[in-house]
Parts: sequence; structure tokens; C-alpha cells
Amino acid sequence: MNQFYKNKKVLITGHTGFKGSWLTQILLNWGAEVVGISLKPDTTPSLFEVLGLESKIKNYFVDVRNFSEVQKIFRDEKPEIVFHLAAQPIVRVSYDDPLRTISTNTLGTAHVLQVIHELGTVKSVVIITTDKVYEDKDWLYPYRENDSLGGYDPYSASKAAADIITKSYLQSFFNPKDFKIKHNTLITIARAGNVIGGGDWAPYRLVPDIIRSIYDKKEAVEIRSPQAVRPWEHVLEPLSGYLRLGKNLYEEDTVMCQAWNFGPNDESFMCVEELAKRAVGILGSGSVNIKPDGSKHETNILKLDVTKAKTLLGWRPVLNFEQNLEYTFSWYKNYYDKKEDVVVFTNKQINNFFKN
Ligand SMILES: NC(=O)c1ccc[n+]([C@@H]2O[C@H](COP(=O)([O-])OP(=O)(O)OC[C@H]3O[C@@H](n4cnc5c(N)ncnc54)[C@H](O)[C@@H]3O)[C@@H](O)[C@H]2O)c1
Repeated sequence: MNQFYKNKKVLITGHTGFKGSWLTQILLNWGAEVVGISLKPDTTPSLFEVLGLESKIKNYFVDVRNFSEVQKIFRDEKPEIVFHLAAQPIVRVSYDDPLRTISTNTLGTAHVLQVIHELGTVKSVVIITTDKVYEDKDWLYPYRENDSLGGYDPYSASKAAADIITKSYLQSFFNPKDFKIKHNTLITIARAGNVIGGGDWAPYRLVPDIIRSIYDKKEAVEIRSPQAVRPWEHVLEPLSGYLRLGKNLYEEDTVMCQAWNFGPNDESFMCVEELAKRAVGILGSGSVNIKPDGSKHETNILKLDVTKAKTLLGWRPVLNFEQNLEYTFSWYKNYYDKKEDVVVFTNKQINNFFKN
């Protein structure tokens, strides 16, 4: 893939966020020309700043809800490949600010799709939604791509809506059967599980909460939903899936134009309490305080079926659960203990991962 992305013009929305910063770093390493549309980073520290990305790519600090600004950027930049990640992605924040969550996640996605439709020159588009788009059946079975969509909380509902809007654009304007006849753009939808990795400092997320409690507050990490089971995967796992999709679409593989789950192997479906305890063990300090908080709905169990990505895309999870934890917490240890340069350390993880 690194050869493929060399000199390609790639636009990433949400490039200042956790996943967007990793994606930007990978694409820079592979020689792509990266353009980003996002708000400025809203955590301190942020991976975007720590990696010094602002000076390495072309940045537009623009709200995706501003249609004319997004339209102008696409017209000026004419990207070949688009990864749309910009979103308000935190479930708890969506309870406090449902309108911003809904407008960013639905209208923002529709704006990106509409400008791509008007422009007609983008070749490959990957729209990132989430595993939370599925109707919460609270059952043991892994969700498949053709299960019904739902969304209990405003975040999940907004991403399910974004997913449906994307499918509607796919069918109406970017239909694979009309490819090269009525349009030249192929698009797809990527749904990933609970992503962890170094450099996430977002609020109300387990790993950043653990890190803050150990390194900043020096107090026990409070666990709100200890028994909730999640598909924990390292950030590089779904990103490798997105990059694979971006490449295959560019190479005109119309089979890619459908939704894809990216989740870990079975052993990585782990409850929150277990992950927190293992993290404290690896970091060698801190403790866990179970403090159940039933004030907000939390899905008890969420599993993803990745058979399709394995079979049709040739994608598979690379890291097992132990390696995922090792990648994640060694990154923070290196950062806080000021050992190796953060960009060098991050690139070592990227290179090791993509060697597999
Ligand atoms: N992190 C996870 O566990 C996870 C799991 C599944 C799906 N996702 C999805 O992956 C994507 C990235 O998530 P993340 O964890 O990197 O989140 P993040 O909060 O770290 O980053 C969000 C990005 O979106 C941008 N953004 C937010 N509102 C915007 C607006 N109105 N206009 C322009 N940009 C805006 C932010 O500036 C930032 O760059 C999101 O679409 C999220 O829903 C994340």
C-alpha cells in the first residue's frame, strides 16, 4: 500500500483527531500529499500537536457544517482520495450536546458527499461510521453488515443516519453499475469497533481516562460500566482497512462499494474492568475504582463479525489483545517518561504493524 499512496492527493476530514492524526502520519510516511479539514485540536495534549503535523500538511480549520467553505476547499484542492472521519464521536458528549452531534455527524457527512457529487473528480471515498450504528439488540451474537441499523443514544443515531445517508448517495449518485457511464467516483462505508492506541486524550474514553488518572490526577481510575464488553482493537487495525478500501476503490474494484466491519479477533472482546486492570498492570502504577453509573444507557455487549472483510478484502486483525495493550500503553509510557522522540516511536509502531 505504501507504494500506491506515494504522490496521491488525499483529503482527510477529522485529521486533527486521534484516528485522523495516525492516518495523516501513515500517509505522510508513504509519500502522499495530505490535505486536512477539521476543527483545531480540542484536547491538551493532542496527538496532532505532539506529532507536529500542522507544519507538515495543508490544513483547513473549517467546520464541516459550513457547506460553502467545504465546497471551496474541495474545488481548490481537487483530491483524488477522501477519508471522512470528522465527527463528534463521544457518546456521553452527545447526551449534553445532541444538536451539535447530530448536525456534525449527519449534515457534515452529507456536505462531504454532496461536494464530491458536484465535483465529479474524486476517485475514491471512504466514509467512516462506527460499530454503534447497529440496532442495539443486547445479544451475544456479533453484528453483521446486513443487520438492521438503529442507535439508542444521539451519537449512535447520528452515525446510523450518516451511514444511511451515505448508502443513499451510493445508490443514487455513485451507483457501481453506473460507474464510468454516469460518474467516476466509488464510495464505501467503514464501521470499526472500540479503538485504542497511543495519543488519544479524548474525554469519557477508557484509555485516556486511565492515562489521566495515573499521570495527571494521581488517583484511582473510575470505571462506570465494568462489565460492558467491547471489541477493543488497536487504531492501526481499522486504519489499515480504510487504506485498503481507499486503494481498491481507486483501482476501480466496484465490489468495495458496500459497508465493512473492522473488529478484532474473538479473544479481544473483553469487559471494561478487565482491560482497566490489565492496563494498570502494564503501566506499573495506578488502581481501579469500580463506580457503576447507570444514569446513561450503555450497551452491555457489542461484538462485530468481520468475516466479510477477511474474505473479500483480505484484511485481518494483526495484533492479538496482549500486543494491542503493549502497543497502546508503551506509547504513553514513552511519551510521559520522555524517552524516545514521539514521532520516531510512533513511526516504529507504524512500520512494525505494516510489516505483518
Ligand atoms: N475512537 C473510536 O473508538 C471510534 C470507534 C468507531 C468509530 N469512530 C469514528 O472515527 C472517527 C474519528 O474518531 P476519533 O476517535 O479520531 O475522534 P476525535 O474526537 O479524536 O476526532 C474527531 C475529529 O473530527 C473533527 N471535527 C469534529 N467536529 C467537527 C466539525 N464540526 N467540523 C470539522 N471537523 C470536526 C475534530 O476536529 C477531529 O479532527 C469518527 O467519525 C468516529 O465516529 C471512532
